Amino acid sequence: MVRILGIETSCDETAVGIVDDGRLVRASALASSQQFHAPYGGVVPEIAARVHVEVIWQVLEQALTEAGCSLADVDAVAVTQGPGLPGALVIGVSFAKALALSLDRPLIGVDHLAAHLYTGAMMEEPLEPPCIGLVVSGGHTLLCVAHPDQRFEVLGDTNDDAAGEAFDKVAKLLGLGYPGGPVIDRLSEEGNPAAIPFPRGGAKDGYEFSFSGLKTAVYHAVQKQGGELSRQQIADIAASFQEAVVEILVTKTLRACQRTGLKQIVVGGGVAANRRLRQRLTQDGAARGLRVVCPPVELCVDNGAMVAGLGFALLRKGRVSPLSLSPDPNLHLVEAG
Ligand code: KG4
Ligand code: ZN
Repeated sequence: MVRILGIETSCDETAVGIVDDGRLVRASALASSQQFHAPYGGVVPEIAARVHVEVIWQVLEQALTEAGCSLADVDAVAVTQGPGLPGALVIGVSFAKALALSLDRPLIGVDHLAAHLYTGAMMEEPLEPPCIGLVVSGGHTLLCVAHPDQRFEVLGDTNDDAAGEAFDKVAKLLGLGYPGGPVIDRLSEEGNPAAIPFPRGGAKDGYEFSFSGLKTAVYHAVQKQGGELSRQQIADIAASFQEAVVEILVTKTLRACQRTGLKQIVVGGGVAANRRLRQRLTQDGAARGLRVVCPPVELCVDNGAMVAGLGFALLRKGRVSPLSLSPDPNLHLVEAG
């Protein structure tokens, strides 16, 4: 049995996971600095970095308690090398290096996006590449082909806002607070998704995403109502907006399957927690004979278990990192050759 400790500090979550054999999650501890960012309506990098330093040791202790083990039982230390906020990444990477050095265990730097996609391999029935991967979070909107051996072919990215960022900005426009995704998800249940036909221009041909036009359309819809909006009006706008985003994401993901001939999809990132997105992808995918893996929400949001999981796969291939490992805020998925 190989036990990996995974550390994640790329954004506002300080997370430590402990995973056995790349699949069995023994612990997944998390502290979020979300409440400190809420007044600003988005993540403040300086605050995120400072909170990581303050809480990382406690989060590690929590993970060890959850797993019922000690640091001596850990076989390797994996850490998110990038992409992410530079100051935030430095904390996790430095901490991981210190641990690896003091425990005399291998250090494994991992790509955060690849870690999100690796969660498919952590399911009861592991997803074997090749498959289509969709990562949708506050910082990323990425559609790719995931090949075996952690090699990827990026099909499309966002030209402006990330999907989660669009949720957060629209929630702000509607006076719903931060982070916006979970609130819009909940409130949409009370609204009519067909109330406002928001543009789905972003769903046009190709794989690139764009959410700024949709965001502007929401702004105009709010202005048009004029004055204070009722709860029902807000719920209708939220549901209609969510429906448009989901439609864009689902259309492009299914298109990728159709064009590549691949029959499997895995989703990751905070927006993959969205109930409507999970429902539509699962239903529409099943209707086309596709296997759609929407990992449990705890594995979709930023977490340490996915880092540990991918760390195991890389360790098996001998892909360990030197103690001189540096954070790489612009790290890209390894291109398939
Ligand atoms: O992956 P994540 O936890 O952090 C990074 O950004 O890396 O994603 C956070 C994003 C936020 O923008 C949040 O609004 C969005 O994910 N989010 C959701 C839901 N839960 C979180 N968006 C839509 N529906 C949700 N249920
Ligand atoms: Zn993420």
